[in-house]
Amino acid sequence: MSILKLQNLMSNDIAKRSFLSRPPEPPASILVGDVLKSIYIGTTKVFQVPFSWSFTNLTNPHIAIVGITGSGKSYFVKTFLIRASYVWNSNAVIIDWAGEYKAWVKQSGGKVIALGKGDYLNIMDLSGMKPLDRVKQIMTSFEILTDISQFAEQRRLTSEAIEQAYTNLGFVVSEPPEKGKESPTLKDVIALLEEKLQDGTYEYPAELENTIYRLRQFAREGEDFFARKSTIDLGKLSESGLVDIDLSGLPDEKFRGLASLFILQTLKEKMRFEGWSESKGLKTLVVLDEAWKIASDDRSDAITIVREGRKYQFGLIVASQNPTDINEAIFSNVGTTFILRIKFEKFLNYIQGTINFSNFIREEISNFGVGQAAVEMAFQTALRFPQTFILEKIQGETPLYVYTVNMEGAISESELSSNVIQRDYQFEREELRNKLIEYNVSAEGIDSIFSSMDESGRNPKMLDFINVLFQNGVEASDIVLLLKSMSIEDSIITRIIAKAGVRNA
Ligand SMILES: Nc1ncnc2c1ncn2[C@@H]1O[C@H](COP(=O)(O)OP(=O)(O)OP(=O)(O)O)[C@@H](O)[C@H]1O
Ligand SMILES: [Mg+2]
Repeated sequence: MSILKLQNLMSNDIAKRSFLSRPPEPPASILVGDVLKSIYIGTTKVFQVPFSWSFTNLTNPHIAIVGITGSGKSYFVKTFLIRASYVWNSNAVIIDWAGEYKAWVKQSGGKVIALGKGDYLNIMDLSGMKPLDRVKQIMTSFEILTDISQFAEQRRLTSEAIEQAYTNLGFVVSEPPEKGKESPTLKDVIALLEEKLQDGTYEYPAELENTIYRLRQFAREGEDFFARKSTIDLGKLSESGLVDIDLSGLPDEKFRGLASLFILQTLKEKMRFEGWSESKGLKTLVVLDEAWKIASDDRSDAITIVREGRKYQFGLIVASQNPTDINEAIFSNVGTTFILRIKFEKFLNYIQGTINFSNFIREEISNFGVGQAAVEMAFQTALRFPQTFILEKIQGETPLYVYTVNMEGAISESELSSNVIQRDYQFEREELRNKLIEYNVSAEGIDSIFSSMDESGRNPKMLDFINVLFQNGVEASDIVLLLKSMSIEDSIITRIIAKAGVRNA
């Protein structure tokens, strides 16, 4: 056994390494915020200090969240938004690529805007902007999402025709519009180009035809989500409490991208227009979850919001499974990064390179459980403590268990893709449990229904769902009631019940 001998030693090097003078967590004075002005996130791993987030000392209020699927990114976002609305009365706009948030937003009393499922956005709407600025924005969106920048003539034709459509309706392109004046739509733009083609005097008819073809993709009957009068008051988007822009009903990534860019552009204009505000806290949070194209392109307004957001109390929250999908300008400028579990060496290298944490933290990150996170904060002034620390767990609100029943197999593919019939129906676990109790299903029956749905990854097919209900004692008449409560139309209910072969004894 060795003998421990104490001795005095004077060394700056060793003092710097000393655990007691440089703990692996920022001091409590930094971690613990005023409950009325900060957002509680969870306790730290080493000293179990309750960490509450505020951006007062940070370079800006923006947040990046990275982590593998299921690591808890969306859960964190939900928790954060709810608390921000309590603490600062913050509004939030979620650009919801996969429709992940809609059930939760509904449950939280927010508004869901379902594009492609009854809601429309006219991308030519001005919400107070000068037409010329809107023309530029529309062209930027087309450039990000299509290869139009390689076709100078088509680019010019498109931009001119959009401008012309405004002029024809009496707008002055270099001036803000009169209040309440209705904007043209892409259909008017296409009509102008078609007229020009009919006219026969334009010297490159093939260019003109291609231009028309490009625009028609966004204006075809049934896919004219951006070429009709808006069903949303865009000017009010950033001040309407919790708003979910559900993009899952749009046919493909290009449509989702166009919607996201348009919404970001509108929010950015609104932010600049409202100007600097003295109020503390955050007025509006904009969430981009898995919208990689939008978060990665240099020309996207996500970057403008990151650069200018602080002075207008606008915060951007970007979440992604893949940190390399987040533009450097965003990633290296956000005030806070939450790193949840990451497995891939490539991604770990990238983050460690940008953020500079220790190998110890890197090792921890690759072994995190659900909800565990490393937090990195960029302070306005240089401080003498590590800026990356570990949270035992993000302590959120009780998770909502949402099931999504899928119509595939119950309804023909052609009907589903024509968008007349909704593809997915969602409900929440407790909501369904209460209904099953109402229908007198036994406790075992209820358990068996839930475990079979959990096996399907909470995403059962409609016919299987109906059969599982029936086999576990739900009567056909109650299944009909349940489907009605999911707002499925009567005629469709009759069809799918017949197809499932379910009948009362
Ligand atoms: N901090 C937490 N505490 C308790 N449960 C959590 C926590 N974080 C996540 N969960 C649960 O883990 C599951 C996956 O979380 P979540 O949907 O947030 O993952 P994600 O990172 O957004 O995944 P994806 O990339 O697939 O969207 C959810 O059921 C959620 O309720
Ligand atoms: Mg998610």
